[in-house]
Amino acid sequence: MTDTPTVEPTKADSLSMRDNRTGREYDIPITDGTIRAADLRQIGVKGEPGLATYDPGFVNTASCRSAITFIDGDLGILEYRGYPIEQLAEQSTFLEVAYLLLHGELPTQAQLDEWVLSITYHTFIHENLKQFIEGFRYDAHPMGMLMATVSALSTFYPAASKIDDPENRMLQITRLIAKMPTLGAFAYRHQQGKPYVYPDNSLSYTANFLAMLFKMSEPTYQADERLVHALEVLFILHADHEQNCSTNAVRSIGSSQVDPYSAVAGGIAALYGPLHGGANEAVLAMLKRIGTTEDIPDFIAGVKDGKEKLMGFGHRVYKNYDPRAKIIKKACDDVFEVTGVNPLLKIAQELEKIALEDEYFVKRKLYPNVDFYSGLIYEALQFPAEMFTVLFAIGRTPGWLAQWSELVQDKEQKIARPKQVYTGIRSRDFVPMSER
Ligand code: CMC
Repeated sequence: MTDTPTVEPTKADSLSMRDNRTGREYDIPITDGTIRAADLRQIGVKGEPGLATYDPGFVNTASCRSAITFIDGDLGILEYRGYPIEQLAEQSTFLEVAYLLLHGELPTQAQLDEWVLSITYHTFIHENLKQFIEGFRYDAHPMGMLMATVSALSTFYPAASKIDDPENRMLQITRLIAKMPTLGAFAYRHQQGKPYVYPDNSLSYTANFLAMLFKMSEPTYQADERLVHALEVLFILHADHEQNCSTNAVRSIGSSQVDPYSAVAGGIAALYGPLHGGANEAVLAMLKRIGTTEDIPDFIAGVKDGKEKLMGFGHRVYKNYDPRAKIIKKACDDVFEVTGVNPLLKIAQELEKIALEDEYFVKRKLYPNVDFYSGLIYEALQFPAEMFTVLFAIGRTPGWLAQWSELVQDKEQKIARPKQVYTGIRSRDFVPMSER
């Protein structure tokens, strides 16, 4: 706080503020539609800390400048590096999108070939990591196993801590994107009590993942191309989503300059929760619990009474139909053509129809989000519900790493350390046990 008022002539790109406690006026610069929270510190009353903002859940606080993903929640727009998600889902591959997120531009054919080759080269995991997975209980949640094994990777690659070396950063990024399907598949096989299947580097990223999950005694596992494509699209849709809960976790942990495996393990932990990546698992449980379309009105009434949430609906940013949900809804048709229709689809469609017309949801701008239909596809692809969030994590890894890489190169970034509004008791004397 300063004692002298900082009154300056009002500029066009500034915010004039008057502190009614002191009568002082302040002129705060506006840049890119934001004011700097640190500029508010000068506003204050003598003897008290300067003004701060109180923003639980970062509802209206930008924590970084980022050039990776753009979202317009009101219009339902999502772009990676300026390319609309609809075009990428239709025309690109997951590894091409990963390259785009990391490098900012689409690769040339030669760059893509090299990138795919280096990812393929790193798909195997250290045998000790396999033993580490074996140590989990037979019924361990695969997301818990994934979180722990990604974290353990930092011990296998101690050089990953050299985060200032760009070449070293790219090596760790390549390794992690390459190993995520292997770790996810091994976690699944462990839970199933089935032997681990090593990567088949003659297959594509997604086809190899399916082979590691489902291959038994056949020499080569041939997944239906339409199913491989559907999963590839789902990975693309999940690849990044700007400053969501898990990405914020990755950035927050990464701001301490720890290695990327540890930072991403934190992102996986955040994604695990039912309000974030765990929502599609919760959607499926909800649809099963509702059981029949006749029971939907009772369920909706319960939601409106605040008894529970309509999982897969609502979003912090989208106040319109989530563009990813639209693409997934379409992908459902392609998948069900191969697998047969999931009977829960009818309940989901009817639920959506009712909710989109109901005043409660309309007023609050609650629309289906990415998780509303994705669980139905995953189930049709034979994934058990616990694997859904693992699939989300594999898809989101390039986004987490692109955001981490941007963070460590951003000279403006500092170690994350929010303020608090202290509401507890101050300065009292310790009370001995006998006097309590
Ligand atoms: N069902 C019923 N009511 C809801 C729902 C819902 N799914 N979502 C929000 N609301 C209500 C909420 O009760 C509140 O009502 P009121 O104004 O009367 O208090 C109002 O809508 C605003 O909700 P909010 O909780 O302030 O919104 P938020 O931005 O803090 O939360 C959300 C966003 C995604 C956590 C929330 O919508 C939710 O819990 N949805 C269900 C879980 C879900 O589907 N999560 C997946 C999100 S998309 C995948 C991802 O990016 O991770």
